[in-house]
Order: sequence, then C-alpha cells, then structure tokens
Amino acid sequence: MTDLKVLISREEIAKRVSEMGAEITRDFKGQSIIFVGVLKGAAIFLSDLARHVRLDATFDFIGVSSYGNRPSPQKELKDGWDSTGEVKLTKDVDQSMQDKNVIVVEDILDTGLTLTYLRKVLLAHQPRTLRIAALLDKPSRRKLPLEGDYVGFKIPDEFVVGYGLDYAEKYRNLPDICVVPRQ
Ligand code: IMP
Ligand code: MG
Repeated sequence: MTDLKVLISREEIAKRVSEMGAEITRDFKGQSIIFVGVLKGAAIFLSDLARHVRLDATFDFIGVSSYGNRPSPQKELKDGWDSTGEVKLTKDVDQSMQDKNVIVVEDILDTGLTLTYLRKVLLAHQPRTLRIAALLDKPSRRKLPLEGDYVGFKIPDEFVVGYGLDYAEKYRNLPDICVVPRQ
C-alpha cells in the first residue's frame, strides 16, 4: 500500500499527547495511577503519554478480541464490518486494581463496544476511579453511548493507521497517523 495520506502529523500528535499528560497530572495531583493499555494498538500512545505524566504510575496491559470472522482487510475497508459486539478477554490485568486510580489507554474509540466491555471488566476490580484516555475518537461511528475522559483528536469516519494503529497488523510503526484509502 503506497497511497497513505497523513491525517495527523507526528508534531501534532506530540503536542496533543503532552497536553493530555499535563491534564492527567493536574487531575490526579498528589495521587498515583495505573495505566492499563489495550493491546496492541495503544502501546505507542501509552509509552508517550506516560512520559508526560508527572505522578507515581505503573503500567498494565489488557487484551481483547472480537468473536466472529473478520473479513479480509480489503473487504472490511470497502464494506465495513459489523461485529456482534461480543468481545472476549485474551489477557487480563496482572495487578490488583482495588481502590486504585485506573486510566484505560486505547488507540481509538470507534463503535464503543470494546471500551464498554472493558469498563465492565475493570469496574469488577473495584478501582477508586476509572477513566478512559483515547488518542482518537470517531464519534459518528458510535453504537453505544460512551465518551472518553481524555481524547486526543476527533476524526471523521476514515480508516487510519500509524502510531500504533494497524491494518492487518501492519503500519503500527508509522510515526504519523495516515488514512488508508477505500478503493
Ligand atoms: P470499537 O469497539 O468499535 O470502539 O473498536 C475499537 C477498536 O477497533 C480499536 O481498538 C481498533 O483496534 C479498531 N479500530 C477502529 N477503527 C480503526 C481504524 O481506523 N484503524 C485501525 N483500527 C481501528
Ligand atoms: Mg485496538
């Protein structure tokens, strides 16, 4: 795939991520937090965001996957794909979340199905607070009413890759966020 157009440049990402880090630092002043990254897309965002947060922090990771056979990436791009909304946990957190300030870190908030499920899973761990940090948000795609507490950029309904986001597991290492054209 050669035809990738930059939607959000690495400079814009860096600026916004540092602002989000400052916001989290202010909101949790004097407290400690646990970042829970959603594998694998959030790995790069989490590592940058965490370095802009001036608080005691630990990392954890959680993994999810959808039931049902996803169509090929080409078909999914052209026709879309409506999952049943049924999500399964492939990796739970390693540490106790009880009475802790937990921030779930996700690459993109799309239909809201994944984070609605993860909220339920994490609330069962009885954290003191549970917040959502999402680098990107496609509000026009939402199926369940869920908002991020810290959102980097609201974007239109385009399929994007880079800065952790993939297309068939590729392009996660692109430094900019790019749009994949719908052929
Ligand atoms: P949701 O459950 O529909 O909110 O889906 C969120 C997940 O879908 C994200 O964690 C991504 O893995 C994936 N996703 C949604 N939109 C995109 C996109 O534009 N590019 C890459 N992955 C996406
Ligand atoms: Mg993901």
